[in-house]
Amino acid sequence: MVHCDGLLLCIFESGSMAVWNPCLNQVRWIKPLTSSCKVCCYGIGYDGLSRDNYKILKFVNGAFTKNEYANTGSYKPEVDIYEFKSNSWKTFKVSLDWHVVTRCKGAPLKGNMYWISKWNRKPDIFIQSFNFSTETFEPLCSLPVGYDIYNVVVLSAFKGDNLSLLHQSKETSKIEVWVTNKVKNGVSISWTKFFSVTRPDLPVLVAFENISYPVHFIDKNNRIVVCCEEVLADRRNVAVNIYVIGEDEIKSQDEIEQHQIGFSWPLISGYAYLPSLVPVPSSEDKTE
Ligand SMILES: *[C@@H]1O[C@H](CO)[C@@H](O)[C@H](O)[C@H]1NC(C)=O
Ligand SMILES: *[C@@H]1O[C@H](CO)[C@@H](O)[C@H](O)[C@H]1NC(C)=O
Ligand SMILES: *[C@@H]1O[C@H](CO)[C@@H](O)[C@H](O)[C@H]1NC(C)=O
Repeated sequence: MVHCDGLLLCIFESGSMAVWNPCLNQVRWIKPLTSSCKVCCYGIGYDGLSRDNYKILKFVNGAFTKNEYANTGSYKPEVDIYEFKSNSWKTFKVSLDWHVVTRCKGAPLKGNMYWISKWNRKPDIFIQSFNFSTETFEPLCSLPVGYDIYNVVVLSAFKGDNLSLLHQSKETSKIEVWVTNKVKNGVSISWTKFFSVTRPDLPVLVAFENISYPVHFIDKNNRIVVCCEEVLADRRNVAVNIYVIGEDEIKSQDEIEQHQIGFSWPLISGYAYLPSLVPVPSSEDKTE
C-alpha cells in the first residue's frame, strides 16, 4: 500500500490495484498494465497545478547498469503513469540511474512522493522525489546522516509541509530525527536535527527482510511515535509495539499484538495514515 490524502492505493500480489478510502467506504478498481511485478515501486499523488487530477506512478526498481531499454532479466526497466481523469496509462521505456533502497516505502507529501534512494553508479544516498505535476523525478538532497545498510533510516512527512527522517545507529542504538526546512524545487534543502535520544531502554529497530519496516511520525507534543516489530525470546514470533518517545523519557509502550515472524507481509506493510473525506477520484470516461 501507498497513500496520499487519505486515499490508499492497494497493490495485490496478482497485480490488481484498487484505490480505497476506508472512511467513505469507496473503492475503485484500476485496470493494471501488467499482471504482477515483484520489483516495482508505486506512488500516488496529484497534479499540484490543476489540483483535480490524481495519478498513480509505477516503476521497475532495480540497479540497472545499462542506460537503455534493452535490458536483460525478467523485468524491463519502465516507468508507467496512470491518470484517474482519463482512466489511462502512459508508458515510458526508460531505465533509471538510481533505485530505491528502503523497500520502496514512499513518503507522501503535498501530492508528491519521496524515497530514500541510491545512484546506481555512485555510492551516494539521497532523497528522490516524483513531481506529479510535471511527471518528473527530481532528486532533492542528500541524507543528513551517513547511510549504512545495518542502520535504520525511515522517511515520513512532518506536519504536512516538510519531511522527517528517523535514523537509528546499529552500533549505539541512538535515535536521531531530522527535519527539512523546505520541500520545493529550485530551493536548497537543509536538514535540522529535531530530536536525539540515547537510552538503554530504546527499542532496537531492525531492517531485516522478515520484519516490518519501522514506521514513525512526530506528534503534536514533539515526541516521536514509532511502530515496530520486535522479535520475542522464542525467535519465532514478534510483538508489534508502539512507542512514544520523548527526548528524556519513554512516554509509553503499547503492545498491539503478537504474531509469527513474516506474518504481515513485511515488505510493504506499515504507514502512518491520516483519515480523510477526500472522495476516491472518478474518471471522465463514463464507458468504464
Ligand atoms: C518547515 O520548515 C520550515 C523551516 O524550519 C518552517 O519555517 C516551516 O514552518 C516548516 N513547516 C511546518 C509545517 O512545520
Ligand atoms: C513540481 O513542479 C511544479 C511545476 O514546475 C512546481 O511549481 C512545484 O514547486 C514542484 N513541486 C515540488 C514539491 O518541487
Ligand atoms: C529473520 O531474518 C534475520 C536476518 O536476516 C535472520 O537472522 C533470522 O533467522 C530470520 N528469522 C526467521 C524466523 O526467518
